[in-house]
Amino acid sequence: MSFLRERPRTDGCGDLRATHVDREVTLYGWVDVRRDHGGCVFVDLRDRTGVAQVVFKPEISAETHARAGELRNEFCIGVVGRVISRGANANPKLPTGAIEVNAERLEIFSRSEAPPFPIDDETDAGETVRLQYRYLDLRRPALQRNFLTRARVARVVRETYASAGFTEIETPFLIRHTPGGARNFLVPSRQSPGRFYGLAESPQIFKQLFMVAGFDRYFQIVKCFRDEDLRQDRQPEFTQIDVEMSFVEEDDVLRASEEMIAAVWREVTGAEVPRPIPRLTYDEAMSRYGSDKPDLRFGLELVDTTEPCARSGFRVFEQAIAAGGIVKGLRLPGGATGLSRSELDGLPEVVKPYGARGVAWAKVQEDGAWQAPFAKAFSEDARRDVNARMGARPGDVLCFVADRPKVANASMGALRLAMARKFELAGAGAWAFCWITDFPLLEKSEQSGAWQACHHPFTSPRPEDLEFLETDPGRVRARAYDLVINGNEIGGGSIRIHQPDVQARVFRAIGLSDEEAREKFSFLLEAFRYGAPPHGGIAFGLDRMVALLCGVDSLRDVIAFPKTQKGACLMTDAPAPATAAQLQELHVRLKE
Ligand code: AMO
Repeated sequence: MSFLRERPRTDGCGDLRATHVDREVTLYGWVDVRRDHGGCVFVDLRDRTGVAQVVFKPEISAETHARAGELRNEFCIGVVGRVISRGANANPKLPTGAIEVNAERLEIFSRSEAPPFPIDDETDAGETVRLQYRYLDLRRPALQRNFLTRARVARVVRETYASAGFTEIETPFLIRHTPGGARNFLVPSRQSPGRFYGLAESPQIFKQLFMVAGFDRYFQIVKCFRDEDLRQDRQPEFTQIDVEMSFVEEDDVLRASEEMIAAVWREVTGAEVPRPIPRLTYDEAMSRYGSDKPDLRFGLELVDTTEPCARSGFRVFEQAIAAGGIVKGLRLPGGATGLSRSELDGLPEVVKPYGARGVAWAKVQEDGAWQAPFAKAFSEDARRDVNARMGARPGDVLCFVADRPKVANASMGALRLAMARKFELAGAGAWAFCWITDFPLLEKSEQSGAWQACHHPFTSPRPEDLEFLETDPGRVRARAYDLVINGNEIGGGSIRIHQPDVQARVFRAIGLSDEEAREKFSFLLEAFRYGAPPHGGIAFGLDRMVALLCGVDSLRDVIAFPKTQKGACLMTDAPAPATAAQLQELHVRLKE
């Protein structure tokens, strides 16, 4: 009879406690560490649940003890033995530290070569080798915990939406590729020479068609594919919690979302999400925090000091303002002692990537006067006004950027985050949730100067702004919202356009001719002619959400087989070249 049949597992290694003493147990797992001393072989046996110490003593079974001598790290084994107390030798650092298992039988299921890196949370192995041997990397307890958390999140999401009457329906991955938004991955069609599918960047259009079809409430946990430049918080294939609802307005979507978020946070952190989650308009977020995904775990609000700066006599500020700019200020309480001279001189480096040319800073003295390179050039009256607006106190540092509003806000937003990190203002374990609403509908592309959809072209304009769609497109606000948690964009959605005439106007506003729109989205426009209900929805980045909950910075720590910065899978060596025969079958010829 096989060992597995004869001795089925009784417990997880990590589940054994003092209450198990005297019980005979069968454990399966991997050799975490093996030590030989005093004639006994000690093995830390690891499985998904944790680690237990197993002792092989010659007096219990000479044969088993001899076989234990062959064990090496990562051997996969089964052990039968009796749980005994470690008494005074208990290890309080281990959950199973009160006991050990006196082994009577040992089965070696399979041997292991020496792993390329230790299977240990404290590993200093480089990411390249860990991704190459990802199945070993995934054996590390810290990564295992992340995936158990991920599975719990997915379960709670399903339970919450299912019990609220949402239906989970799948949508295709191989779709018609669409312009705009994220770049699609293209898949050549063997059966239609010269034609390509796109891999779905999201189920957006399909979920809207579910609403036309009358499903009323849809959700799906779904893979999305985007051929974007990758960053820590971006993967080319990632997972969305995708949601769409009929007969709803903003409040309905936000409320259903908050329900789900609260259930997930309760399950994983035990914390109650304060509801309703506060809302900030896009304009307010940009103006107060310099970002449309503000981290609200700390204050450090930006202050508009344009008005006093315009009459300060300080040429740099006055000129920037005369050219249509603003002056944004940030007060760093106690900064005069908290920041060294070289840190102050390094501030421009923080804002440079956002287009600002520099940061002006001033130390506030006992009498409110400024110690600053430009202090003499700044009128006393204006300085007093700036101090009052910013709530300046002696010992503070005041920082300023004068530039176009977009640059000044973004730069100061970045400086705000850098200073919060420096002064460790975000409390450990703190959560700050907010909705950002009233995004602009359209934005001008930096490259082409053409208007494009901020969110996507199916987002509804605010009805009261519709009249400006053709005359002043930048003024039109969208019925769009993002969920931001601790400064991360975790979700985004909108109330959709459901009237064919409005959809046609938005397509035109982003430069799609009626003909192009018909060619690309005829099915959607046509569907809207058959009784489309008012509808809206949202999608959450599951990977980002889990990364936040696990306290990790990189999405790679919560995606089982992630891609590198260059979009490669180091384990399977994808992407890989195709054979000549494959290419021919796909009607694809490579450039020399
Ligand atoms: P959006 O493009 O804002 O909206 O995506 C929704 C959420 O998905 C996450 N996300 C990503 N996560 C990891 N890697 C990526 N490359 C990546 N791109 C996006 C973010 C983001 O908030 N169809 C619309 C939703 C809707 O309108 O209902 C959409 O896809 O957390």
